[in-house]
Amino acid sequence: MCGIIGILYKNKHVATDLVKGLKLLEYRGYDSAGIATISNGNLLVEKDRGRIDELNIKLGFDQMSGYVGIAHTRWATHGAPDKINAHPHTDCDNRIAVVHNGIIDNYNEIKAELIRKGHVFKSLTDTEVIPHLIEDYIKNGYGFREAVLETVSRLEGAYALGIISLYEPEVIVGVKQLSPLVVGVSESGMYIASDINSLSPFTKDVIVLDDGEIVFLSLDGYEILKIANRQKVDKQPMTIEIDTQFADKEGYVHYMLKEIFEQPVVLNYSIRVQEHYLNLMAELLDRSKEIFIIGAGTSYHAALLGSMILSRIARLTAIPVIASEFVAQYGDVVSVDSSVLAISQSGETIDVLKAIEFAKSRAATILGITNTLASTLTRVCRVYIHQHSLPEIGVAATKTFTGQLAVLYRLAMVAGKMRGKLSQREMDEMKIEINKIPSIVKNVLDKVDPVVRELAKKYSKTKYFIFLGRGLNYPIALEGRLKMLEITYIPSLAYPAGESKHGPISLVEEGVPVVFVAPPDETRKFIIGNMEEMKARKATIITIGEADDTELMELSDDYIAMPKMNPLFSPIPYVVPLQLFAYYTAILLGRDPDKPRNLAKSVTVL
Ligand code: AGP
Repeated sequence: MCGIIGILYKNKHVATDLVKGLKLLEYRGYDSAGIATISNGNLLVEKDRGRIDELNIKLGFDQMSGYVGIAHTRWATHGAPDKINAHPHTDCDNRIAVVHNGIIDNYNEIKAELIRKGHVFKSLTDTEVIPHLIEDYIKNGYGFREAVLETVSRLEGAYALGIISLYEPEVIVGVKQLSPLVVGVSESGMYIASDINSLSPFTKDVIVLDDGEIVFLSLDGYEILKIANRQKVDKQPMTIEIDTQFADKEGYVHYMLKEIFEQPVVLNYSIRVQEHYLNLMAELLDRSKEIFIIGAGTSYHAALLGSMILSRIARLTAIPVIASEFVAQYGDVVSVDSSVLAISQSGETIDVLKAIEFAKSRAATILGITNTLASTLTRVCRVYIHQHSLPEIGVAATKTFTGQLAVLYRLAMVAGKMRGKLSQREMDEMKIEINKIPSIVKNVLDKVDPVVRELAKKYSKTKYFIFLGRGLNYPIALEGRLKMLEITYIPSLAYPAGESKHGPISLVEEGVPVVFVAPPDETRKFIIGNMEEMKARKATIITIGEADDTELMELSDDYIAMPKMNPLFSPIPYVVPLQLFAYYTAILLGRDPDKPRNLAKSVTVL
C-alpha cells in the first residue's frame, strides 16, 4: 500500500523520471499522489487527490524543476484520500518533505507531544509527525542526519520513508522498517523506491535494504547504517534483469486482460521451475511434523488448493490458513518441527510477513512461493520458489494465481515421488498431463472468450452471484467469486456446493445466477444433485463443464464448454472463464478492472 520513489541526479531534472517511476508504483495505491523537489533553495510540493496521469496534467508534475525529489502514490489509511492528506508531508517551516509507505503505530503520542511544543499539523495522517519531529530535533541543535536518526528511532510500526530537506539539499534519506525499500545506483544518479520494477527504466543495479536500515544518498554515492547502533553496513549493488515489457499493455485495453491472455506463455515458465528447489522444499516438508500453507486473498485460494493436491498427490497433510488468522488459529502449536509454506505473489503482504515472523520466532521452517524477486518473503525463507509469472500490474491476480497453482502441482509431484507415493511411471504421466496445461489454457481463451463476453452482457445487471464448486474446484469457485466482487462490486458468495443447502440456498429465488464449476471428476455426480436443488428453486444455472457433457448442459441455462483434460489439473483451465467473466462484467458496468476502488495490489498494512 502506497508507493514511494526518490531520485537524485547530477545534472538532470528529476520530475519526469519521478512520474515515470510513480506510474510503475501505481498498483500500490492510487487515491492521491504528490511530488516534492528542491530547486534553487526552495522546497516545491505538488499533490492532490486523483490518479497520476490526471494530476500530471492538472499540476504539471513533470514540469517541476530540481535535481533531487521524492514522490508518492497513496492508498489511504489515516485521513481521507484528499489533497491535505496526500504525501509528501512537510514540517512547519516547509524545509523538510517526507513520503511514507506503512503505518506509524505511535503517531498519536508523538503528535500530542509536538502540538504541545507548538507544531502546527495540516493533515490527519500518521506520516506528518515525521517531518515535524525531525524539525524539532534540528531546532534542539541536532544536525539533519542526526535528527532523522533520532526521529526514526522513536517510530513504531511499519515504514519505508523517503526524506529530502533544505538542510542538506543534495541528499535523499531512505529508511526501511517492515515496508519494502530498495536503492538503485546508476552512472547518472541514485534512487530509492518501493520496488525494483519501478527502477527498471533507470537502472538494473539495486540494493535491497533490510529492516532497521537507513540510507543516505548523495552525489558521492550511498551510505547505509543500522539505525539501532549507527554502524555502517557494507552492501554492494546486485544486477537484476527485469523484463520491462510488463509495463506495456501491448495493445490490450487493460493490464488485467493482457495478463489473462498471457497465461499460456507464463504457465510454461511456472511449470518448469527448477527441480532443485522443488526437491529442497519437498525434503523440508517431508521432515516436518506439521505443515501450514498460508496466504491472503487469491494466494489463500492457491494455498487451499495446494493443501488438497499435497494430500492427493504426495499424501502430505498441509493445513491451509488465511495468513492474518494464522497466529490466532495455530500459534500455540507452531514449533521447530513445523513448516510454514507462504504463498504471496508480491512477497510483501504484511499479514503473510507477520505470520512468518511469528513462526520464525518459534524456530519453524519458512518456505515460500512468490512472483517477486528480492521481496521481503524471499529474504526470510529457508527455501523459496520464484514462480516466473512476470510482473503483474492489474490489481486482480490472474496469471500469478495460475502460476502459483502450477508450482504447487509440481511441488506435490516431486514430494509424492520423494515419499514413494508416486511411481516413476505415474510421475512421468503426470508430467505429460501438466505440460499440456498451457496449450489447454490457450484453447480455452480462444474458444471461451466470445462466449463469456455474451454471458457478461446477460448477467451484468444481476443483484448478486453465487459460485459453487466441489473438491479441487471449490477454491476455483472462491476465486471466481473474489474476481467478480473485487472488480465489479457485485455482491457475490462462494461455497462448497454441498454446503450450499446449509444456508446460502435461502438467497436463491427466480433468476439468481448460480455458477457451477463442474469438471468431470469424482464430484460431478454430487454437483448434479446440487444443480437440481438450485433449479428446483428457479435459479439460473451457469455451468463450466466439459464440452460433451450433455447431462450438465441440459441442466444449465448457460454452458461454458471446456476442452477435455485430466480432471486433476482442471482448476487451472477452469478458473480462466471466471477471470474473463469478471473482467467483461466490470467493463460493462464502467468499472476500472486494473484499479478497483479501495484496493491496492500489495497490502502492506495489517
Ligand atoms: C487478488 O485479486 C487480490 N488483489 C488480493 O486478494 C491478493 O491476492 C492478496 O492481497 C494477496 O496478495 P499477495 O499474493 O501479493 O500476497
